[in-house]
Amino acid sequence: MNQAFELNELDKQMPNIFAQCDTLYFDFGENNELDQKLFTWIKQLKKQNRIGKRVPEKLHFLAPIVAQMRLYKDSIEKSLMREAGRISVLAHKTAMKYAQQHNHEAQVTAKLEYTMHQHGSERTAFGSIVASGANTCTLHYRENNQSYNNNVLMLIDAGAEYQGYASDITTTFPTGGVFNEEQKAIYQAVLNTHNAVLEQCKPGADFDSLHALSCRQICIELRKLGILQGEVEDLITNKAYQRYYMHRIGHWIGCDVHDVGNYHDGNAWLPLQKDMALTVEPGIYIFPNKDLDEKWWDIGVRIEDSILITEKGYENLTPGLPRTVEEIESFLAT
Ligand code: GLY
Ligand code: MN
Ligand code: MN
Repeated sequence: MNQAFELNELDKQMPNIFAQCDTLYFDFGENNELDQKLFTWIKQLKKQNRIGKRVPEKLHFLAPIVAQMRLYKDSIEKSLMREAGRISVLAHKTAMKYAQQHNHEAQVTAKLEYTMHQHGSERTAFGSIVASGANTCTLHYRENNQSYNNNVLMLIDAGAEYQGYASDITTTFPTGGVFNEEQKAIYQAVLNTHNAVLEQCKPGADFDSLHALSCRQICIELRKLGILQGEVEDLITNKAYQRYYMHRIGHWIGCDVHDVGNYHDGNAWLPLQKDMALTVEPGIYIFPNKDLDEKWWDIGVRIEDSILITEKGYENLTPGLPRTVEEIESFLAT
């Protein structure tokens, strides 16, 4: 900043400042009052044309420029995102154990968010999802108000914000500490997909290729379990996975959990580049459906990490969670 004035001098100073500029950058259409003021200042300036004042020649939208800048994280942003991730991992691990000893989603939500604040997070990055049993299948479950018995699946999608930077993690685990056969099979299917996508997270990949890979892997997995039948290529072409996997593979993350920034430049999907941050979050959600054996019903699993693209691959910003079936079961057993 080159200059600062009292706010009550705004109307007086702005026309003078405009008079010295060739280009004006502004977020048009975001705030009616400010839009109005801007045009008033320009009008004032135009009236002073004969005494040598001139209006800026170019008007530019500011938001797309800032959005493009926000796609790339500098070293300070990266350390803030690592800290947001560290706090979120701690909160998830604490909540997982707590869920085992309690029986209400609200209790787990309280413990989860308390742990975030306790470790320096100013607020949650978005409304926490703490879903038990059939609620695991509801994508934007926010009620967090149901009691559960001690042997259901729980899905927690939550992240801390730290000094303005977001984190986003989903963990899925059995509240009884041990997966049943069907829960285990679906969990493993999602984990295989998560790992397959992570492996491709490097410069040059793009959101569409990662999403397509996740759809393919989910078809392969669901076919192996007999939940989908037919050739993998046909299942992909017919979008058979959409009944069980109805969202995208991930999103940009940064100052916002679903951060600004284009995914596509009008011609092609943006290639991932070093220092971009995103989430990877495949899931399978099985609503009761008469075509399918009841043993599969109401199982919802999502596995989500926040990552940063590096020179050759990616860095997990949310490392250290128990992720395999064995890791989760042994974590909950101790
Ligand atoms: N909880 C929002 C998301 O994962 O995108
Ligand atoms: Mn997410
Ligand atoms: Mn999430």
